[in-house]
Amino acid sequence: MKVSSTPLAFLLFPLASSAFKLPFTLETIKTRFESIELPQFIKKYADPISTSPLLSLHKSLIDIPSITGNEREVGQWLSNYLISKNFTVETQSVSEDGERFNIFAYIGQNRTTHTLVTSHIDTVPPYIPYRVSSGSIYGRGSNDAKSSVAAQIIAVEELIASSTIHEGDVSLLFVVGEETTGDGMKAANELGPAWKTVIFGEPTENKLAVGHKGIIMFDIIAEGRASHSGYPELGVNANSHLIRALYNLENAKLPSSNLLGESTMNVGKIEGGVAANVISPHAIASVLVRVAGDLDETLAVIQKSVQNLPVEIKLLGVTYGPQVLDYDVEGFQSIVCSYGTDVPNLHGEHKKYLYGPGSILTAHSDNEYVLKSDLFEAVAGYKKLIKESLWPTKRVPSIIEKTVLVEEEVVIPVEAVSSSASIKETEAAKPEGVEPKTSVDGEL
Ligand SMILES: *[C@@H]1O[C@H](CO)[C@@H](O)[C@H](O)[C@H]1NC(C)=O
Ligand SMILES: *[C@@H]1O[C@H](CO)[C@@H](O)[C@H](O)[C@H]1NC(C)=O
Repeated sequence: MKVSSTPLAFLLFPLASSAFKLPFTLETIKTRFESIELPQFIKKYADPISTSPLLSLHKSLIDIPSITGNEREVGQWLSNYLISKNFTVETQSVSEDGERFNIFAYIGQNRTTHTLVTSHIDTVPPYIPYRVSSGSIYGRGSNDAKSSVAAQIIAVEELIASSTIHEGDVSLLFVVGEETTGDGMKAANELGPAWKTVIFGEPTENKLAVGHKGIIMFDIIAEGRASHSGYPELGVNANSHLIRALYNLENAKLPSSNLLGESTMNVGKIEGGVAANVISPHAIASVLVRVAGDLDETLAVIQKSVQNLPVEIKLLGVTYGPQVLDYDVEGFQSIVCSYGTDVPNLHGEHKKYLYGPGSILTAHSDNEYVLKSDLFEAVAGYKKLIKESLWPTKRVPSIIEKTVLVEEEVVIPVEAVSSSASIKETEAAKPEGVEPKTSVDGEL
């Protein structure tokens, strides 16, 4: 019987490698770089992160924790970075004590630029440290939205370096508070300038978002009266009222739209009562609706479905209707998003683009990551969007015609009328003419 030597060598290798120290480790190679001038390609190979302006900026941003409410340190670091790159930097206080601030940066003196490029510097909790694993970068904010922040800045830096853009063309805005109340972007309305185009950075898988759903967040509160459960006629059971209200709500038909599809509802939290042998005196449920149809109609349906019950609906801060975005730039795939953004918090008549690296499906998760290749692609994507906003060349119609073609009694789905190149390709592949949409739920 012939025994192959390979398995044996394999078993012995770990022993051998710990017994003999190789003359060069990655550390000694790195140390030598400090003193010896080596070709750039070797440096890049040995340390791809710190030799890449994009990847090192991205890393620095992730290295500084910036959970909503604690954005100060990352804000200070980013201000200094932008100043070092010769931007004029303004900080805008968002909290009373000035600890939390937005960063507004532009070239030279002109702050009323044509285009604004913006994203947020806060993240959801908990902090997760930076980690690279082959083609992916992990860590809190690696995707949502420090990948957008880094790619946007590098895109603008490169356009300045190539003398493509100048003073008055583009400004950068990085806000706090996006993950909770949007207080940063709401404050940004006080900055002054009205921009013609605003490019928002959020994880869209480097696709151009055609729109995202709105939000209605509310509590349903039922008040009862406690009594011995053996004598229910002496009390009023708040839990029973809440159960009926939630049943009605879950069975209500919420308005939908052709662009964004169905509205969805999540009864995320229910609390009620005190004990099994006590008639429940109090019950409350927290509900979030992702609004695809008309906001007022949706609110009316919600009210109507509980109108005959002794419950109260209490709207909680975040309420806005569906957001329709611009996507009239050729060469991008499109995506429909179900998550909330800062788009509705910035008022004005500007064009709105929503685009960024990474997928919302991993954002906010323990496994949040972005592909390195997506980061680089996003720099190219942002440069293209910025250039198209300033000098439109390849516009395709943004308006989705609500026309129903009656030829041969065939009703063409609304999505099929849209005319970007990528959509046309999918149409050909899918004879029913339905554009495949990625619809995702994630952050608020
Ligand atoms: C810095 O910005 C000013 C104003 O835009 C410009 O005149 C100057 O050339 C820039 N300096 C460098 C080193 O880029
Ligand atoms: C600033 O830039 C805007 C947009 O490019 C331009 O319309 C405006 O005239 C500029 N303002 C000044 C003072 O140069």
